[in-house]
Formats: sequence, C-alpha cells, structure tokens
Amino acid sequence: MAHVWRVDPLQPDPRWLEAAAQLLRQGKLVVFPTETVYGLGANAWDETAVQRIFAVKGRPATNPLIVHIASREQVTEVVVDWPAVAARLAQRFWPGPLTLVLPKHARIPPVVTAGGPTVAVRCPAHPVAQALLQQAGVPVAAPSANRSTEISPTRAEHVLPSLGQLVDAIIDAGPCPGGVESTVVDLTVDPPRLLRPGLITVPMLEEVIGPIGIQTSVPALSTPARSPGLLPRHYAPRTPLRLVSLEQLAAEQQRLTAEGYRCGILQLPDDPQRAAALLYAQLHQLDAAGYDLLLAPWPPDTWDWHAIRDRLRRAAHD
Ligand code: TXA
Ligand code: MG
Repeated sequence: MAHVWRVDPLQPDPRWLEAAAQLLRQGKLVVFPTETVYGLGANAWDETAVQRIFAVKGRPATNPLIVHIASREQVTEVVVDWPAVAARLAQRFWPGPLTLVLPKHARIPPVVTAGGPTVAVRCPAHPVAQALLQQAGVPVAAPSANRSTEISPTRAEHVLPSLGQLVDAIIDAGPCPGGVESTVVDLTVDPPRLLRPGLITVPMLEEVIGPIGIQTSVPALSTPARSPGLLPRHYAPRTPLRLVSLEQLAAEQQRLTAEGYRCGILQLPDDPQRAAALLYAQLHQLDAAGYDLLLAPWPPDTWDWHAIRDRLRRAAHD
C-alpha cells in the first residue's frame, strides 16, 4: 500500500514534500495534486520509472505523457524549440492548466513521448505540485492518476481504490480546484492547434496568439453525441451515461423510470468553472451509487463549457 501523506494545499509540510521528491528521484511513482486533476508522477529522465506508469494505468504505449516542470526556465531541458507563440502563451498562462506540444529534447526517453518527435510540457500552478517539482529538481512525467479509460481523479479518495496498491506514495491535498485536465495545444503546426479543450478556452488562447485550429477528431461543438459508441471511450463511468437536452431531461427520466431503470442525474452548477471543479467528483459518486443509467443534460454550447461538453461526450457510451 502506498504511503498517504495529507498536506495543506496552500502550505504543504516540507517534510512530506522532501520525502516525495526523494522517491521521485529514486524512480518511484508518486501521486500528487495539480490545479486540474491528480497526476501519477515519475522522473521523466528515468525510462524504467516511466514504463511503470504505463503498466499501472494499463495505458497503451502509443499514448504519450505530459512532462511537468517547476518553472519556465526548466523548459529548455525538455524541448529544443521555443517559438514566439510558446513564449507568449507561457508568459500569459504559466504556471497554469495549459500544456504545450513542442519538438522534444533528445534527452527525453522515447517512452515518454510514445516514440514521437514532440513532447507535451506544462508548468502546473498548484502550490503542492510547484513545491514538489522544485524539490525533485527533475521534470516529472505524469498522466492523470486513474486507470486508463476510467474517470480522472480530483480527490485522493478517487485514486486509492484503483491505484493505492500500485504506487509508492500519494500526496493528498484535498480537492483539485480546476477539475478537468489541462488545455493541450500543438505548437508544432501553423496555425497552432487545440488538441484537448480545458479551462483555458479557445477565446483566451486566441486573444494571445491569434486564430488557432481545432482538432477535428473531437466532434464539432454543436454536434450532439448521436452515436456515442463511435467515439473514443474515455473519462467514462462504468454506469452508462446518456446526454439529453435540458428540455428533455425530465421526460426522459420519467420514461426510463417507468421502464424500471434506476436513473441517476448529473447536476452541475450554472457556472462553468464551478461545474468543472465538481464534474468528476459527481461522476465518481454517481458511478458508485449503483444506478442502472446516468442522465446528464447538455451544458450550453459556448466556449466556456467546451471542456465540460467534451468530457461528457467522451464519458457517454452505450
Ligand atoms: O491536467 C493535466 O493535463 C493532467 C495533470 C496531471 O497535469 N494530466 C493529464 O495527462 O491529463 P493525461 O496523460 O491524462 O493526458 C495527456 C494528454 C493525452 O490526451 C495525450 O494524448 C496528450 O496529452 N499528449 C501528450 N503528449 C503529446 C504529444 N507529444 N503530442 C500530442 N498530444 C500529446
Ligand atoms: Mg488522463
């Protein structure tokens, strides 16, 4: 069983951070909080340690990891090109929930980038992640600390049942404030391209670097998930989740209840940032409650809700 260290999110006890940093340097796996979700970290220079991340998550070796750094200065250890667009985005959004894809440094082992020539890098803002990365002194490769295809963890309690036996330490700093994974932007193409929506929205990015492209494998913002089975199943609860329009929600619930299904309803706040912070915790809770089916109303079709719509669409499956 992993050590579980409970720390204050704003003023973490340096003893636990030093212990965790030491484990990372020794090639161990440490779960730590970030402002988005909990990450499953390993020393990015240590090929064997990074391989263990893939093993414990059950993650396909073809899916590359994000490398986390303590400060902007450290980026030169990870990437070989730092274009003006990267500098502008980092200046505005780092530390924070933005991941940049850039040409990788030769020193990064191929296992981190799934053999590819680019690396995803981010400088997280959470005080615990910041302190841990500073103490560790090495870049830390970290996916979300969930088993592959399961719901991302925003609390240490979400990590324990699935990965508690498989990792070396868990730093528990309470709920992650952001709640959905970082925005991922590919800066190796022109114009830059959004690969994953997050709390740093398209208008926020475009204000800094002008027009960006949007990855087309994610269906257009206005397209409801008519065939969720065709979409990559990701971030998904075990209980089937169905998305319906807000207007149809009550009728759909009545119909399904009449047919004998026990339906759980995802209820999110009206404010997109508060909704994001609660999304995965709600899904974890509903999933554990033993419903036959979960219903979620489609959030508004605006950029503020883009990331939440994306995660809900991926969570919905037949
Ligand atoms: O908020 C976050 O980003 C969290 C916390 C822990 O930092 N991490 C996270 O990692 O969500 P993960 O592994 O669950 O998601 C990483 C995403 C995946 O969609 C992956 O395909 C993409 O980033 N990615 C990583 N490296 C890439 C690369 N070189 N090119 C394109 N996409 C990449
Ligand atoms: Mg993930």
